[in-house]
Amino acid sequence: MKSKAAIFWEAGKRLDIQEVDVEKPHTGEVLVKLVAAGICHSDYHVMTGHLFAPFPSILGHEGSGIVAEVGPGVTAVKPGDHIIVMWRLSCGICEYCSNGRPALCPAGTQIRSTGQLLDGTTRFKYKGQEIKHFAGASTFSEYTVIPEGSALKIPQDFPLEIAVLLGCGVITGVGAAINCAKVKPGSTSVVFGAGGIGLNIIQGSAIAGAAKIIAVDINAKKLDYAKTFGATHFVDASKKNAVEAVRALTDGRGVDYAFEAIGSPETVRQAFDCLAKRGMCVAVGVVPLTKEVAVPIMALVFEEKTLTGSLYGSARIRQDTMMLMEMYKAGKLKLDELLTRKYPFAQINEAYDNLIKGEVARSIVTF
Ligand SMILES: NC(=O)c1ccc[n+]([C@@H]2O[C@H](COP(=O)([O-])OP(=O)(O)OC[C@H]3O[C@@H](n4cnc5c(N)ncnc54)[C@H](O)[C@@H]3O)[C@@H](O)[C@H]2O)c1
Ligand SMILES: [Zn+2]
Ligand SMILES: [Zn+2]
Repeated sequence: MKSKAAIFWEAGKRLDIQEVDVEKPHTGEVLVKLVAAGICHSDYHVMTGHLFAPFPSILGHEGSGIVAEVGPGVTAVKPGDHIIVMWRLSCGICEYCSNGRPALCPAGTQIRSTGQLLDGTTRFKYKGQEIKHFAGASTFSEYTVIPEGSALKIPQDFPLEIAVLLGCGVITGVGAAINCAKVKPGSTSVVFGAGGIGLNIIQGSAIAGAAKIIAVDINAKKLDYAKTFGATHFVDASKKNAVEAVRALTDGRGVDYAFEAIGSPETVRQAFDCLAKRGMCVAVGVVPLTKEVAVPIMALVFEEKTLTGSLYGSARIRQDTMMLMEMYKAGKLKLDELLTRKYPFAQINEAYDNLIKGEVARSIVTF
């Protein structure tokens, strides 16, 4: 079948919307008609060459849609089902899956690094040329083929243009606070980067009962967004030394939890330097994979500080998504406030331009 898709030809080039051929789903695969795809910074890291992905490919990893067709052997979903695409495939039986950490499953690493589906082949072609998948998701296309295990069935009455946000930004941010850092009531958090991910770390910290939540960004426009999601203080890092400002806001003590949601070694180190003794710093931003972050051994040993990372909100993706949907329905999770702009799919490059200009909390394209 034919599908309009945004092709990523190579790093440094803008996405190129073309008509591609999409092959029928093979055994264990699902053809999805996308309704919405989220504009996450991770795809932008790929577009700029900051993060590697096989190419040419179809990017996009935050997506919601309707099952159009299933391949042989598929039992988890059927045509007409509403789904969220999960961007990290998991097998369900390995050490990590059995321990409630499906995002660390080797199956996810395999399809992410090869750009192929599980049988080692691909379903997209442009004028006969093979186009690779991205993370087994490829949501920047009217139609995509994903492994059955990447389809998360959701209730038919949950709006798909809101559900899409749960696919990456919300679960990654809220999960980093709740599952990874395990933020405690009355504690203090700082969040570097108040974008789609950072706002949800702020939201997760607020849900967990943090008393003081400091948002750090270089864009003052993010102040109002940060407040909406529960930040109590804001530091404009374009004007002030962020570490000194955070220390001043905590009477010199530092914070219990520091999160980096930007993607640079410098800001990971700044976040770490904001910690109080026994504090935990969680790197969520995707720092170029060849980079290193140095921290003083003194801080690790004599001050018992921790530096860790969090992938996909350290979540049990299926259960946590259902929990987040219930929280939204109960008015305890802000999603409508997060969706500050919607674009037609044809404007996907403009959507990325505006993300980089810092004009949105989170935006989506619709098909
Ligand atoms: N670990 C994971 O599982 C996971 C999942 C999704 C996204 N990510 C990563 O999280 C990061 C954030 O993604 P996003 O979609 O929220 O991006 P975004 O563009 O919406 O937000 C980034 C924010 O950082 C701010 N910023 C940039 N430089 C800064 C600096 N020096 N100091 C303070 N603030 C600064 C920007 O103004 C912006 O508000 C990206 O690196 C993305 O790849 C990680
Ligand atoms: Zn597994
Ligand atoms: Zn993402």
